[in-house]
Amino acid sequence: MPRSALLSLAAALSLTATLTAQAPPRSEAVDALLPRPTRAVADLAAGALPLGRIVTIAVPAGSPRLREVGALLGAELQQRTGRPTRVVAGVAESGRRAEGALIRLDTSYQASNDEAYALTVGARGAAIHAASSRGALWGVQTLLQLLEPADSATWQFAAARVDDAPRFGWRGSLVDVGRHWFPVRDIERHIDLLARHKMNVLHWHLTEDQGWRIEIRRYPRLTAVAAWRTERDGTRYGGYYTQREVRHLVEYARQRGVTVVPEIEMPGHSSAALAAYPNLGCTADTIAVPNSWGVFADIYCAGKEETFTFLFNVLDEVMDLFPSPIIHIGGDEAPKDRWKECAPCQAVMKREHLADEEALQSWFMGRVAAHVAKRGRRVIGWDEVLDGPYIAGGLVQSWRDSSFTRAAVARGHDVVASPNAFTYINQSANQVSLASVYQFDPVPPGFDAASARRVLGGEVTLWSEHITSGANLELMTLPRLAAFAEILWSAAPRDLPAFERRLALRHLPRLRDAGFAVGPSDAPLATIAVRVDTSTRRAVVRMPALAAGVTVRATRDGSRPSAESLALSDGDAVDAPDLLRMQPFWGASPILEERRVAFARHPGVGARVTLRPLADARYPGTGTGSLTDGLLGGSEHGDGLWQGWWGPDLQAELDLGAARRVASVTLRCLQNVRSWIVLPARVEVAWSTDGKDWHDAGVARHTVPVSREGVVLQPFTVALPSAVDARYLRVTARSAGALPAGHTGAGQASWLFADEIIVR
Ligand code: ACM
Ligand code: ZN
Repeated sequence: MPRSALLSLAAALSLTATLTAQAPPRSEAVDALLPRPTRAVADLAAGALPLGRIVTIAVPAGSPRLREVGALLGAELQQRTGRPTRVVAGVAESGRRAEGALIRLDTSYQASNDEAYALTVGARGAAIHAASSRGALWGVQTLLQLLEPADSATWQFAAARVDDAPRFGWRGSLVDVGRHWFPVRDIERHIDLLARHKMNVLHWHLTEDQGWRIEIRRYPRLTAVAAWRTERDGTRYGGYYTQREVRHLVEYARQRGVTVVPEIEMPGHSSAALAAYPNLGCTADTIAVPNSWGVFADIYCAGKEETFTFLFNVLDEVMDLFPSPIIHIGGDEAPKDRWKECAPCQAVMKREHLADEEALQSWFMGRVAAHVAKRGRRVIGWDEVLDGPYIAGGLVQSWRDSSFTRAAVARGHDVVASPNAFTYINQSANQVSLASVYQFDPVPPGFDAASARRVLGGEVTLWSEHITSGANLELMTLPRLAAFAEILWSAAPRDLPAFERRLALRHLPRLRDAGFAVGPSDAPLATIAVRVDTSTRRAVVRMPALAAGVTVRATRDGSRPSAESLALSDGDAVDAPDLLRMQPFWGASPILEERRVAFARHPGVGARVTLRPLADARYPGTGTGSLTDGLLGGSEHGDGLWQGWWGPDLQAELDLGAARRVASVTLRCLQNVRSWIVLPARVEVAWSTDGKDWHDAGVARHTVPVSREGVVLQPFTVALPSAVDARYLRVTARSAGALPAGHTGAGQASWLFADEIIVR
């Protein structure tokens, strides 16, 4: 063929392609469907379907499941449009009157995927042909997305033809109710959101260090004791779900196509249970339900039969409540400190020929899995279950990164993927953005088809350390859940700009209209920083990020901020009180954890500081003047008020501007050994009147062991000889040196943290 003919053929082909690409009629409602269906076309010739006076939903006679789906559709339509709906069984009955839209549901669709469905909408009616009642539910959700105002007074369904099936069968969301507890209605709303996104698993993380949240009849102390903690300010916090509430939520979820997978954590993250039943721990020491976040050393004892009796009984009640074929048994972040010191644990290792404590955990999880298997259920565990042998048929949830997806599949396990960098949407959206969720693929690159089939799907997680209310939960969930739903449902190539347009066009407005709280896609909900203007000694509040709809409210009298408290704007200056309490709100709902800033008014405030060396760039505090700004750090070392040094001693020299009578000098330091922060070995203070001639004032030490768990705030005070007039003060904090044996960072340098030098 001559070259010119080739060219003209190519031109003709591309012309045809252009014509066909333009050919299908466009419909905003169809374009915006989310998650994107396998195939969806706007059938404009068929005409939109007006709702009419009454909507009739017809289901086949003798199909109670489809009748239930029809009733759900009817209730949703009635709620969204105010129009009456009715569900009728049998075609004859439904065809009699035509007073409005007729929607038929059946399960005639032939597909290997039981979540598949086909949907047609035209002026003469709508039909959902599904492969099962589950598929019908997803067809209903698609139909509801086609609902649009026809004019100011009436509604219609946009004309469309849709064929659809999900890419993955496990499309989940983890809600942690341990760190914070959410009322039943908030969990229902989360299930509503899952259903609207065709997500089908609620992974309910029911037990944690900071709270046990499910009623277990055999162990009443789990709800009397383990469900409650005393916060650091002395208030009580807690709550739990009664078995009646659990049954209600499981049923509520089932009706909407969502399976609730319960998680009972073991052997770690179990402090609350041990607070209620100390005998289940290795030491049997009485502990309190923790009121701080982290990983705790007290875990279930693997050497006591009592532990297994307890867990089997708990799981028996759990399996009575949850029909889920899969039960989550945790397995992550279990420190082995106690097991190493425990005679019964060591005896089991010897008896069972277990090489180390990791193997002991495998044996522990295996016993529990075998108990679950007796009831015909399978277990899933966090990817640490791969640290030793894991039960055949057990599922793995990879959370660290995709290498654990690979490892699990290589060992023949099915995997649910939730690598934290892409799916931990409890992290603020500047850390895990909508775009990063949208680029996630549960199947790692290079997987062959057989390996890919082992990846059942994925989950987003909503760990609730910093999620404090239902409104907060929604603000973290939306809009990122929409991105996740699309990548798990749709096999179509990703197109982020198009996805964001579809979100903005219909999806988010619809969710907002329904009253859901939608957070930002790439920014925090609120970040609050406080500086002191040392000339006026007023506190200046900066809010570099504040999402639309969020208001920060403050009190200066020590009381808890309410929805009526003073609203702060970025840059506001307030007289520095002893304690400034600041709480972000969404409407009347508090969100995020409260920010408290304490001020110390002392003669050193505003003194010029010279640091040797400068603080580490990761923990700069409020800058060079941080040690004399009067701002006191809290128990969170990352609160922006603490300065940190990794390794070296700290030397700070203060210039008070003029000689002053100084009675004492105090350096405030922090210890949080799990975060590698250790109190200085000692603090030395010297003074001078001229900056040349220095006089040692003394040394302050402490008695806090490096093994102490949790956060310790420690002042180091040195008194000066009486009647000293000093202009210059030198404070030297000697680093504690390397982290001790047994610490995860043993042998590496510890951090030294300080927030203020208080001069009296
Ligand atoms: C986890 O985030 N520890 C599963
Ligand atoms: Zn033990």
